[in-house]
Amino acid sequence: MQLRIFCNFANDKILNNLYMKKTMKKLLMLMAGITMYACSATAQPEGEGVALTPEQQAAYQNIMTRTSIRSWKDKAVEQDKVEMLVRAGMAAPTAVNRQPWHFVVLIKRESIDLLATGRGGGMVRKAPLAIVVCGDMNKALEGPAQEFWVQDASAATENILLAANALGLGAVWTGAYPITERVNGIKEALGLSENLVPLCVILIGYPNENPEPKDKWKPENVTYK
Ligand SMILES: Cc1cc2nc3c(=O)[nH]c(=O)nc-3n(C[C@H](O)[C@H](O)[C@H](O)COP(=O)(O)O)c2cc1C
Repeated sequence: MQLRIFCNFANDKILNNLYMKKTMKKLLMLMAGITMYACSATAQPEGEGVALTPEQQAAYQNIMTRTSIRSWKDKAVEQDKVEMLVRAGMAAPTAVNRQPWHFVVLIKRESIDLLATGRGGGMVRKAPLAIVVCGDMNKALEGPAQEFWVQDASAATENILLAANALGLGAVWTGAYPITERVNGIKEALGLSENLVPLCVILIGYPNENPEPKDKWKPENVTYK
């Protein structure tokens, strides 16, 4: 009897040990699983030791993957996406929140073709969509601060380029201001009112090319103090 109890006790001990081992194994596997999930959910940007959530990673990658696209598929950009682009433009910061801009959205082939003059005309003729980002001098600040409109409209332009990239579109900023000839050419071609000054024409569409984004990282262009 005593021997049996001892055996039972011994068995229990062995069984307990086995149970503990199994539980530990399960626990370890669970921890490994959690760690792997955490790692995949905090992928890191190249060369940096910053842990990012997938949303942060996507937002950063959208900036880093934007590149100028100058060839497009023969496919119209959906109206909802066109509006999203303009909304992104208007979300840009402006001096004193003045928003001294106007966006001329060219969706008709014949309207876009009005801009197809001189060098780059061929590219314009192939673009399914063009947004002319203008400064509106009736809304711009007074005096020396008036020139802030250029920075405001540039911020809007970059927002549109980034939104285009995020929406699977490709775009290129073609500059107008401060080249008087280009500014007047666009104003005349589109019959813009006197108060509007075109900063640039953004040509947009579904990409028909897949260029690598340029690596512009130059540490020598940075000073830390
Ligand atoms: C103010 C400005 C004017 C530009 N004008 C033109 C242009 O007239 N034609 C063009 O093809 N690209 C133009 N670009 C696009 C640049 O060539 C392009 O951004 C630059 O080569 C860097 O390439 P990435 O946009 O692929 O990074 C312009 C860009 C800026 C910011």
